[in-house]
Amino acid sequence: MQAKPDWESVLKLFNYNREYVQLGASQFIVSHPEPVRTAIENFRRELDENRVLYTEEKEMGMMQRVREIAAAYFAVPNADDIAMTDSTTMGLGTIYTALNLQKGHEVLTTNHDHYSQHEAIRQATQRSGGSFRRIDLYKNLAEVTTEEIVDSVVRNISEQTRVLGITWVHSSSGLKLPVPAITKALAKINAGRDAQNKVLLLLDGVHGFGTEMETFPELGCDFFIAGCHKWIYGPRGNGLVAATREAWQLVNPVIPSFTDTMEVVIAEEERPKEMDGLQMTPGGFHALEHRWALYDAFKMHLDLGKQQVWDRVHQLNRLCKEGLADMPHVTLHTPLADEFSAGIISFEVDGYTTPETVEALLKKKVVATAAPYKTSWARFTPGIINSEEEVMKGLEAVYSLKKT
Ligand SMILES: Cc1ncc(COP(=O)(O)O)c(C=O)c1O
Repeated sequence: MQAKPDWESVLKLFNYNREYVQLGASQFIVSHPEPVRTAIENFRRELDENRVLYTEEKEMGMMQRVREIAAAYFAVPNADDIAMTDSTTMGLGTIYTALNLQKGHEVLTTNHDHYSQHEAIRQATQRSGGSFRRIDLYKNLAEVTTEEIVDSVVRNISEQTRVLGITWVHSSSGLKLPVPAITKALAKINAGRDAQNKVLLLLDGVHGFGTEMETFPELGCDFFIAGCHKWIYGPRGNGLVAATREAWQLVNPVIPSFTDTMEVVIAEEERPKEMDGLQMTPGGFHALEHRWALYDAFKMHLDLGKQQVWDRVHQLNRLCKEGLADMPHVTLHTPLADEFSAGIISFEVDGYTTPETVEALLKKKVVATAAPYKTSWARFTPGIINSEEEVMKGLEAVYSLKKT
């Protein structure tokens, strides 16, 4: 077990304006921590000073370094099975399109996923002739169980279902899904299906990636898609897709990749036979200093310790949720149990709409956010960028909204 980090020093790695209580930042867009800022600046200087220092070998090596540390962080067996993207949205759009779902193929998804997943599915199925269906996973969030969620999935899988598209931690409610239990149930269904009819699990994992303990093999999904500019605290404009080698064989690239594939294609005018994450990495020149400095964000997590980060995020979230649950004028929507929650807390304040809540808190210098969903609640997202004191200040501000 790694030593407990000094969380006060961790706070100082971030340049947040602490005149504001930053309780709405982690789930939105990252503030770069010090090691990431330094790495970006070093790479930027190098690239600005002498473009000749940039070579294809260097780019491949730098990106492989990022893939390898991401694979170590998430226990992906082969680093080549990680595709680098700009965001969760780019990963979702790329993979749903690359699956080339045909008429008679259905994507089963839920009413709890983010716009980016819903639109990626709609656009991809519209293009290729597939269809989609959205379901509710539970009736009442306050009483949700693993059995209810798994049962909702299993009951709704039809003969046509080829993909199950779900979200690890819902950014609407903060609910964390029991993904390993879902994949176990899916494996039973798939055991009775032939290879081309198996149901693939595509997981939008962005709000568990960087806080939760489960690894890629433990989650058991076929495609794991996340941005790295939220809870990983990587440079803005970074994301990844991890997939099993078998799953990669089921997709066709959408955007040409700039990897060794390029040389093979130029020399042999045909694509390499086996697909992987390298070939599914959209090519073109990117903001290289941001891409390469992602290494330093994963290193920060590994140095802090995955378990230590989980403990800290859950400790702060428990403190915040228990405080909100005790307030008579507040409805807490996120489950209290660690098992069903991560770093997002959704709540409503009596007598206020969600935009009014966010605005009233901002006037008190507390930053909350509103989620982009049909039913949108106010959110706090305590993370390693926060202290207990900030959580208490956030709670005081919510308490002061009580109308007499
Ligand atoms: C569940 C979920 N998926 C996807 C996204 C989009 O993330 P990105 O900015 O990495 O595309 C968000 C945004 O917050 C989200 O909450």
